[in-house]
Amino acid sequence: MNLATVVIDNGTGYTKMGYAGNMEPSYLIPTAIADSRQKGATKVSNQTEFKNPELDFYIGDEAYAHQKTHDVKTIIRSGQIEDWEAMEKFWHRAIYSYLRCEPEEHRFILTEPPMNTPENREQMAEIMFETFNVKGLFIGVQATLALYAQLCGPESTNKSISQADLSGTVIDSGDGVTHVFPVSDGFVIGSCVRHIPLAGRDITKFILQHLRDRGEKIPSDDALDIAQKVKERYGYVCKDVVKEYQKFDKKTVDESGRVQQSNKFKKYTHKSAVTGETTEIDVGYERFLGPEMFFHPEFIHQDWRSPLDEIVDNAIQSSPIDTRRKLYENIVLSGGSTLFTDFDNRLKKQIQERVDDRFKQYQQLTGQAPKPINVNVSQNMVQRYAVWFGGSVLGSSDHFPKICHSREDYMERGPSICRHNPVFPAGF
Ligand SMILES: Nc1ncnc2c1ncn2[C@@H]1O[C@H](COP(=O)(O)OP(=O)(O)OP(=O)(O)O)[C@@H](O)[C@H]1O
Ligand SMILES: [Mg+2]
Repeated sequence: MNLATVVIDNGTGYTKMGYAGNMEPSYLIPTAIADSRQKGATKVSNQTEFKNPELDFYIGDEAYAHQKTHDVKTIIRSGQIEDWEAMEKFWHRAIYSYLRCEPEEHRFILTEPPMNTPENREQMAEIMFETFNVKGLFIGVQATLALYAQLCGPESTNKSISQADLSGTVIDSGDGVTHVFPVSDGFVIGSCVRHIPLAGRDITKFILQHLRDRGEKIPSDDALDIAQKVKERYGYVCKDVVKEYQKFDKKTVDESGRVQQSNKFKKYTHKSAVTGETTEIDVGYERFLGPEMFFHPEFIHQDWRSPLDEIVDNAIQSSPIDTRRKLYENIVLSGGSTLFTDFDNRLKKQIQERVDDRFKQYQQLTGQAPKPINVNVSQNMVQRYAVWFGGSVLGSSDHFPKICHSREDYMERGPSICRHNPVFPAGF
């Protein structure tokens, strides 16, 4: 009997994990580990019980809850696994304590960032097959899975998709990294992938700094947590920064003659998980200035000046000419940092302006009017965990056993079998 495929998407900030066929991951936890500070085995209060430091570690939210007694560290930086030993321990706890499954009975889908090295893929295969003895393994490129999610997702009417349908530009912006990848016929156009060194964590830090500069009192223990919550709850993308400032600065006078702040300001109340104390914070301009990073990156990063629409346009323009129309007409959003209200509308408008300008120039030069391109940027229900959801759909498809690398294959040919992971079997 085939048990459900396990899908694990390890991101820089969060790990999404669960079983294929489900609409949502069973767990969404920080990709962090808290290790014991003790070196040798230590005796705990009970005379006969010894605490083994090898097992005395926590992952996810539990890791942060134990930061007073343990050393917390993150495992992935800019999408790449940095600490393989910690990753293995994380997977161990994730598989046995969270997902509660016997890995030898399940196939697994793991995800990788674009341009991941074959060596990294082999290392993943080695750990999965040799430490966990999994029944099968497929390592999906995050962009391709996000596109797969959009094509087969809950809003899709297209039930029989093929390799040729997998074309579009994926913008994946998570916690540590933002990527733009054009995908044509199921394959990422490697030379046209663009990497932007700014993502959710940078916006969180910017918002924190801005709140402090405005004189808000932020308890240092929970500072990043507060800024992240403020960002996720109140952040949005505006149409025009100058006009948006004016909306915030507009004061009104109520019936009793008192001057009132603009209703654009919000109040956020935070309760500390450690002390239980509550803090009230006024949230203002940072609501739109944080997400503005995508369109005015120089606000945050001195050396990075290209707005996202320019990067997307440039990535598509460097792709083969016959793929470009599809790439403009199917821009897919993925990852937590694309969830800001109106992110899609502003991006669509700015890319469309670039495309229209180019058309106008072409028309003036040649006197010919080509068929216009309608830029489309789509939001979708599963955007927060589009990569995971793509894995969930793929893992429950009929053809998945044909593309998944089996334990027997691994035993026979070794980790190099995982160097290639096409989403469709040959001849599909
Ligand atoms: N509603 C929201 N609005 C804005 N940002 C959000 C929202 N929800 C989550 N985020 C942000 O999204 C980020 C996490 O997204 P995601 O889980 O896609 O990243 P990741 O996969 O861990 O990272 P990466 O893909 O960069 O390796 C965090 O910075 C989080 O604060
Ligand atoms: Mg991610």
